Amino acid sequence: MPDSQQSDPDAVARGIFAALDALRAQFGERFSAAVSEQALRDENAKILGSKGELKSILKQVGAAPSDRRRAIGERANLLKEEVEKAFDGQLRALEREKRSKDLQARPFDLTLPGRPLAPLGHRHPISIVREEIVDIFQSLGFALHDGPEVELEENNFTKLGFPQDHPATDMQDSFWTTAGHLLRTHTSNVQIRAMSTHSPPMAFLAPGAVYRRDNDVTHSPMFHQVEGFLVDERVTFADLKGVLTEFAQRLYGEGTPVRFRPSYFPFTEPSAEVDIGCVFCRGDEVKRATCAMCKRTGWIEILGSGMIHPVVLEHCGIDPEKYTGFAFGIGVERVAFLRYGVPDIRMFFENDPRLLAQF
Ligand code: PHE
Repeated sequence: MPDSQQSDPDAVARGIFAALDALRAQFGERFSAAVSEQALRDENAKILGSKGELKSILKQVGAAPSDRRRAIGERANLLKEEVEKAFDGQLRALEREKRSKDLQARPFDLTLPGRPLAPLGHRHPISIVREEIVDIFQSLGFALHDGPEVELEENNFTKLGFPQDHPATDMQDSFWTTAGHLLRTHTSNVQIRAMSTHSPPMAFLAPGAVYRRDNDVTHSPMFHQVEGFLVDERVTFADLKGVLTEFAQRLYGEGTPVRFRPSYFPFTEPSAEVDIGCVFCRGDEVKRATCAMCKRTGWIEILGSGMIHPVVLEHCGIDPEKYTGFAFGIGVERVAFLRYGVPDIRMFFENDPRLLAQF
């Protein structure tokens, strides 16, 4: 302020009013120019702060005529209130603007680095082998047939010709649920169910879980079998040999030696166990002498089979004079065990990812 005014109290008062008016005319624009909360607060401090413009204007009040000071004070207070109101209003406007920007923004951050994909699962080794077995027989014309895992004693044993005192019916070998019901000990129950509800010709395949009271390196209380059976007129043991030899060739490779060894099952007559040439020592005399897999015999059993016993056909209402059939049961774990060399059958069901990840 020019010195002349300082000496003239009226001029000082006029100067103060003019300065207040000038400030009043521009603070609104200055606030709206502030684009951030920080810029707005800075601008507010410049105007109302302890070293701000209003304070510096009012420093002159002492030099103004005393009868004008009240009016100056009122004008200054009014201005201060207006500035405060405008500041609050602009602050809220900035907050609203920021919030609506946030709401409109994408709900995710495109600049974040991607996460690696969770590893994909895959089939269990037992499923891989079961599906391979099923594929072979389906291509030979067998159709799938289901059967229950909780079964009547009748379908699991009696109608299959197990004598009443057969050791398999003992508490030691089977899991009984309620009287007359048990967890099926083999998939042969499906033979009874299918032959009781279908008339020949038929060729069925029944894969599934079976249960026995066994638990050691080569036995698990739950394991899997694939049952197969074919009934028609004039089915002979030659048909059984042809189908099962073809199966062994497809599963273990062309030229795999196959032999049929006499055996016994209550529901087949004659019965045969099928062996293949040991896939570990492969007929090599030197290796065979120490081969633990085939117990030095050079042969490994892969399934049980036989011609369906006429009594079983009769139990299912099929005329054994007119029809004959063959049946077989393959142990899925055994095939997997030979294929993958897993040392303990129970490892298949421990669900240890270190094992399962290898298939
Ligand atoms: N059910 C027999 C078993 O579990 C296998 C088998 C099936 C044998 C069909 C002959 C015919 O050992």
